[in-house]
Formats: sequence, structure tokens, C-alpha cells
Amino acid sequence: MVDMLDHTKKLAADHNSAIMFEIFDEHDGVLRQDTAGNIIITNENNLEGGRNSMSWDERYSEPGFAYGTAPNEFLRSVVNRIPQGNILSLAEGEGRNAVYLASLGYQVTGVDGSQVGLRKAMELAKERGVAITTIHADLNEFEIEPGKWDGIITCYCHVPSAIRIQLHHAAVRGLKPGGVFVLEGFSKEQISYGTGGPQSLDMLYSLEELRGELAGLELVHAIKLERDVREGRGHTGIASVVQILGIKTT
Ligand SMILES: C[S@@+](CC[C@H](N)C(=O)[O-])C[C@H]1O[C@@H](n2cnc3c(N)ncnc32)[C@H](O)[C@@H]1O
Repeated sequence: MVDMLDHTKKLAADHNSAIMFEIFDEHDGVLRQDTAGNIIITNENNLEGGRNSMSWDERYSEPGFAYGTAPNEFLRSVVNRIPQGNILSLAEGEGRNAVYLASLGYQVTGVDGSQVGLRKAMELAKERGVAITTIHADLNEFEIEPGKWDGIITCYCHVPSAIRIQLHHAAVRGLKPGGVFVLEGFSKEQISYGTGGPQSLDMLYSLEELRGELAGLELVHAIKLERDVREGRGHTGIASVVQILGIKTT
């Protein structure tokens, strides 16, 4: 940490920048330079990568909705590919996607590790006059029942690869034949963007890894792209993301 601070001070001096210092652990805060050479410590807009000492419950205890109440744009663009029926939303958070899907007639179950997030999800559902089911669980321990789901969605669910690989294998098993898997999240390139996402390559996505983890699905859409993600204060600008739409054909 001392080295990091010394390095920061040297960069600041080199660039004659006035910056505020604060103590942050090695995962907390990202040093970047803008095009004018100014040094920026990004952390206030970066919920996953910013203050890792803050739990999801603490983040969701702040006023408002961290990722807004509108659904994820990619989900909205592909929702007509998801058959009506039971949808499982992994890492649902504060409910924006579950409530959207419920409003379209799906039976939605959202699972998340944050009790506070799920409570807000239930409140949002009530406010919008729809019913959703929530399950408070760690995705490392949550069991996806095989062959149960018509759709499984996962938006910005960044967990360590050891957990993610098992989760994706279970998701493939969990889909019914004809079931659809939808994923959007930050790519590994996002690490240098400063617009959201964890500061851990292991927790970020690559298409190559996803193709392996999702073997058994026909990936009808699997791309990495740069897009302007403006989904609440947590995701705020041009970002490198991956998108998957997969169908379980057998
Ligand atoms: C960036 S938020 C995305 C929330 C939601 N999918 C959305 O797009 O609005 C990541 C979510 O993952 C959840 N999460 C992270 N690790 C988890 C774990 N091991 N088990 C369960 N939930 C987890 C957090 O609680 C948080 O709600």
C-alpha cells in the first residue's frame, strides 16, 4: 500500500496535479490518467471495483437504486427470444430485471447474496403490481435444479472464476430443452475503462472462456463490444462488455 501511495504521489508531482489522497487497500481505487494527463482515482462511480470493503448490503442501503429500475438494455433487446415460463435470474440485485420480466408474464425467481437488494426487489415488484420470488443465497452454494428453467439470465454477475465455471455448468443443466440463457457483463478489457466492474481479471468475462463454460448451448449471439452503459450510478459510461444469447437445443 505504501508503494502504491508513493507511486501515486510521484505521478501527481510529475503531472502537477492536485489530488486528494486517501488510504485504500490494494484492490480499492483505480489510478487512471485522462487525455489531458490528469490523474484520476476512480472509485466513487465504480460500485464493484471501487470500495471492495463495502458489502453489497451496504451499497444497496444507499438511497435509490444502484443500477436503476429500468431493465438491462441487452435483456430488453432479446427478451422476445425467451419462452414464457419459469425464469431464474442469477445475482438479481435490486430487482430491475426480475420486475421487468414479471411484467411481461414470466414467473421469475431472483437469487442474490444481498438481503437488502432482494428486499428492495420485492418492494419494486409490489410498487409495479407484479409478483416475483426471491432467494437469498450465495451463488457458490445455490443449487440450480436440472431441467427446470425456461430461461436463465445473468447481468453483471461477476464472481470468481472457480464459482462462475460451476455456476455456468449448472445453468446449462438447469435449462429445459428450448430454454434460453442470457448474459451481459464486463469483458476483461473493462479493467482499464474506469466505468464500472470489478478490478479483477479473474472475475471479468472472455468469450473464449464463456464458450467453454456454456458448452451444451447453441450460442446464437456471442459478442464483445464497446457500448455506452448508463444503468444507474453503478454503470456509467463507455464500457467493454460481452453479450451471450444461448439456446439449449436438446
Ligand atoms: C453488479 S450487481 C448486478 C445486479 C443485477 N444483476 C443488475 O444487473 O442490476 C452484482 C450482484 O451480484 C451479487 N453477488 C455477487 N457475488 C455473489 C455471490 N457469491 N452470491 C450471490 N450473489 C452475489 C451482488 O449481491 C449484486 O447484487
